[in-house]
Amino acid sequence: GFHAEKERAALYEINREAAAYFYRAFAKGSNPGLEYMAKRGLDAATLRKFGIGYADAEWDSLYQYFLSKGADPKTLLELGLISNSKDRYYDKYRNRVIFPIINTRGKIIGFGGRILGDGTPKYLNSPESTIFLKKNNLYGLNLTRQDINKENYVILVEGYMDVISLYQHGIRNVSASLGTALTENQAAMLKRYTDNVILSYDADAAGQAAALRGLDILHKSGCKVKVLHVTDGKDPDDFIKKNGKDEFLKLVHDAMSFADYKIHILKQRLDMNTTEGSVEFLQETAKILRELSPVEADIYIKKIARETKISEGAIRLEINGNNNSDH
Ligand code: UTP
Ligand code: MN
Ligand code: MN
Ligand code: MN
Ligand code: MN
Repeated sequence: GFHAEKERAALYEINREAAAYFYRAFAKGSNPGLEYMAKRGLDAATLRKFGIGYADAEWDSLYQYFLSKGADPKTLLELGLISNSKDRYYDKYRNRVIFPIINTRGKIIGFGGRILGDGTPKYLNSPESTIFLKKNNLYGLNLTRQDINKENYVILVEGYMDVISLYQHGIRNVSASLGTALTENQAAMLKRYTDNVILSYDADAAGQAAALRGLDILHKSGCKVKVLHVTDGKDPDDFIKKNGKDEFLKLVHDAMSFADYKIHILKQRLDMNTTEGSVEFLQETAKILRELSPVEADIYIKKIARETKISEGAIRLEINGNNNSDH
């Protein structure tokens, strides 16, 4: 209703003022935040584009600023901009680089704050609130959705830095799920701009496990999804800094399809030199191929027969006729 809408408007306004405060601190002369981002190879134009800010090291500078403007501490608490211990309020974000999270309607719904260097938590994120539901949002989409639409594919990454770094290198059809498990709502958001998703998560075990889960969600949502492996460095930011745009685009070109990736994982997990391994491989592969169109499945059947000791006939039988014998 009207009342709820007015309250939301007030929250957006506070976030907008906070973002402007952080932005001014980052833009003025030299400060630890700017130094940190410059050291990470980001230029002024990119930083400005993403509205990057700096939260100073003072205990309550942001709180005092809002107090002077007559803001209600309750609202600041709700937005996760301040905390209280006993009866004192203090700033939540101190000595961090600030990434405003902006929805596709241009509203600032939350913030991520990265520590300068090592320490925990590495990123401090806004809590969920009436204006910030993590499952309904993707970082960077406010800036990149036209490029996603134009290129007709999106590169989905894990982190803030991946988005900004790819963007600076001229790869602008990018967005991030911010380290949380991908949701159906996020898949639906992407589908407004494209059906083609390249998952480009971190090279570590956590990133690969997240990619595998994301793959299923996106596939179920009707996206054509591929998985990209960064072959050098921890993540897309690392890779593109070392190797540049063209090398990254080669990885995009070589990204594994839904079926290729799932079969690749099966081969890693199972020992194909044992009977049990081969049987399970055949059963699991059949499940994957049943998800594909007949034409696609046919291509994979031939490919698997070529690459393993399993015959085309056995694979076809497992896919078509034999799907109730093992469960
Ligand atoms: P990563 O640990 O891969 O960070 O987490 P990153 O994006 O590569 O950051 P840099 O390069 O070390 O600065 C991926 C994403 O997971 C979320 C953030 O959104 C981050 O971008 N995350 C990570 C958190 O929310 N909190 C954390 O403490 C760590
Ligand atoms: Mn990671
Ligand atoms: Mn990184
Ligand atoms: Mn990372
Ligand atoms: Mn792999």
